[in-house]
Amino acid sequence: MRYSLILLAAGQGKRMKAGKNKLLIELQNRPLLLHTLTLFEEDPWCDEVVLVAHQGEIELLADLIDGDYGKIKKIIPGGVERQDSVKCGLDEIDAGKIVLIHDGARPFVKRTVIHELVEVAAEDGAAIVAVPVKDTIKKVENQQVVDTLDRSELWSVQTPQAFQVGLIKQAHNKALIEQKLGTDDASLVEWYGKPVTIVEGDYFNIKITTQEDLLFAEAIIGMEARNNDV
Ligand code: CTP
Ligand code: MG
Repeated sequence: MRYSLILLAAGQGKRMKAGKNKLLIELQNRPLLLHTLTLFEEDPWCDEVVLVAHQGEIELLADLIDGDYGKIKKIIPGGVERQDSVKCGLDEIDAGKIVLIHDGARPFVKRTVIHELVEVAAEDGAAIVAVPVKDTIKKVENQQVVDTLDRSELWSVQTPQAFQVGLIKQAHNKALIEQKLGTDDASLVEWYGKPVTIVEGDYFNIKITTQEDLLFAEAIIGMEARNNDV
């Protein structure tokens, strides 16, 4: 099967407190964004990549990529919210495709998971990677617990999220008109009234968000290197 990718890199990385876009931080001497891009450059199912960048960083990223990633079709400017950046990316994807939307800040998603996701989205319309919640989650108001949620029903959602492109474009267009802001792309599809299927992923697919995530990332890379040696 084939898919197109929208790779999101237009954030500011405020929670990382690095004074720059966190995707430029180096892991093992290579910017985080290039780790994520390599996954898709090397995946034979990936046809094309639309890279969504901050307007002021397009040139910088083009220099970084330096012609090494042949699947990048375009680097385009994103928007203020993540959802705006996704919308900009969707405008570049042709009808009839399966589109994957992925955070540039998740460099550890496995190819087997990506492929299962694409197959499920082709069948069901919308599919997302998720893992069962490990902690007990409580609802709290004014520092007082008001409810303990049933953990067996709770999943922690990651990216990529995959869609038949017509469906996700319709959901995003309606959200734009009705000024609906969702926390992820699948939530717009749910709000649009269409089903979303879960594909179980793994706990290594972290989103690098805060400083301690850089330590976890170095550990995962170290582990992968050791596995490759045996
Ligand atoms: N992103 C984007 N456009 C935005 C906001 C976010 O393309 N307007 C991208 C980020 O670059 C990131 C992904 O969406 O790869 C997930 O967002 P997040 O982890 O929140 O990254 P940032 O928004 O950069 O970080 P922060 O929220 O801490 O500022
Ligand atoms: Mg953000």
